[in-house]
Amino acid sequence: MSYSIAIDGPAGAGKSTIAKEISNRMGCHYVDTGAMYRAMALFIVKSGVSMHDSKAISEKCQEADITVTYEEEGQIVWLNGENVNGQIRTQQVGEMASVTSVNPDVRKKLVELQQKLASTTDIIMDGRDIGTCVLPNATVKIYLTASVEVRAKRRYDELIAKGENADLGKVAEEIRIRDERDMNRDISPLKQADDAVLVDTSDMNVEEVINTIMDIAKKNGCF
Ligand code: DC
Repeated sequence: MSYSIAIDGPAGAGKSTIAKEISNRMGCHYVDTGAMYRAMALFIVKSGVSMHDSKAISEKCQEADITVTYEEEGQIVWLNGENVNGQIRTQQVGEMASVTSVNPDVRKKLVELQQKLASTTDIIMDGRDIGTCVLPNATVKIYLTASVEVRAKRRYDELIAKGENADLGKVAEEIRIRDERDMNRDISPLKQADDAVLVDTSDMNVEEVINTIMDIAKKNGCF
């Protein structure tokens, strides 16, 4: 029997770190749906379309051919034939993705792709609407969160480690704005699915979070 694990939660909760590690340990595919929204945002901005012109975004997004493949280094996101992994990881693209992901046509297109990916294999998928919309029948649903302060500090440490300039207060403010937008949009807002297990990682280290989720997954017949 195949399984699917849905992990949703706000920016900086650690979803991708945790999901990637579980996929490595258990040998299932990991789909980072945020990366697809980031690739779409990149396409829209590069096309010269205003991020606030909903009609133009609805039209333009139809021209974006976004696919993912799996190589040794993990998921590769392709935008119209170009590997865009190196361009989508910035704070700025994350912000743009949060704005353009409000658009219903962007969501429709990417949700279809995500459902197709999940239909053929065991999968762990992270995002904002996986348990509520993309995989409503997921074997396991986790809502991963942490306080704004803890998430901001983690993001700040990541930026500093990458050699970037960062201001902790500013990072916290950006996270608050992103939470607000992701949780209050009309279509598929970020929220805990009724049947999701809440995991608050504020006082947990990575290994503790991985073990907690793996235990829940095992109890539910995954692995
Ligand atoms: O997880 P992330 O930071 O890479 O996501 C970037 C943005 O994409 C996020 O702020 C909102 C959007 N997103 C979404 O609307 N639905 C998803 N399933 C994943 C991401």
